[in-house]
Amino acid sequence: MNDRLPRRRVLLGVCGSSSATGVHGLVELLREHIAPQVIVVATPAAVPFLTGFPGPVTGDADWHSGQSPLHVELARSADEFIVCPATANTLAKAALGLADTLLTACILAYPAPVWFAPATNRAMWSNPVVQQHVAVLAARQHRVLEPAPNPSLTDGVNRQGGGNPAGVACAWPDVVAALLRHYIDDLDEKGHPE
Ligand SMILES: Cc1cc2nc3c(=O)[nH]c(=O)nc-3n(C[C@H](O)[C@H](O)[C@H](O)COP(=O)(O)O)c2cc1C
Repeated sequence: MNDRLPRRRVLLGVCGSSSATGVHGLVELLREHIAPQVIVVATPAAVPFLTGFPGPVTGDADWHSGQSPLHVELARSADEFIVCPATANTLAKAALGLADTLLTACILAYPAPVWFAPATNRAMWSNPVVQQHVAVLAARQHRVLEPAPNPSLTDGVNRQGGGNPAGVACAWPDVVAALLRHYIDDLDEKGHPE
């Protein structure tokens, strides 16, 4: 195990967005820069996007398999919790405190701030209700990353040949950079170890 990484175990929540398809790239970056162990928890809507994912994926089908509630176990064991890509749906559930998937139950059971990296089409992202949920999460000390235009996220309008093709999402390196920047700011504030 690499003891020099800033965290030991990351819980990575993956939601049902098109950008979940390449999430193994983020897992690799997290293993390299943040924590040796990355546990992937997928929502039921994310599962179809994770076909061929090279590693274990924990999901709602595993929820009832253990002795103690899995959402409590997972939340307790994580040093960092990132939801990426975060859908408008899961952002809304997290803001409202709903816990009807393993992932949203983990979010509710996690005792520290969660990082959310949203990925939606543009219309969804600029919808006031989505922005309201983001503001609620930020007000509760969760960390919501600002997504950037991403041409790989399309919507139904685009598939029919018109409209705005691009959605918004955080690039994987930007997610990792945000975490590292936060750790450095924290060290600057609290002082560096001798
Ligand atoms: C092909 C496809 C791509 C989708 N991409 C997104 C997306 O990028 N962002 C989003 O918020 N919802 C997206 N959705 C809709 C979500 O999958 C849907 O709202 C789902 O209920 C989300 O569930 P979850 O938040 O539990 O993962 C997509 C749906 C489909 C079928």
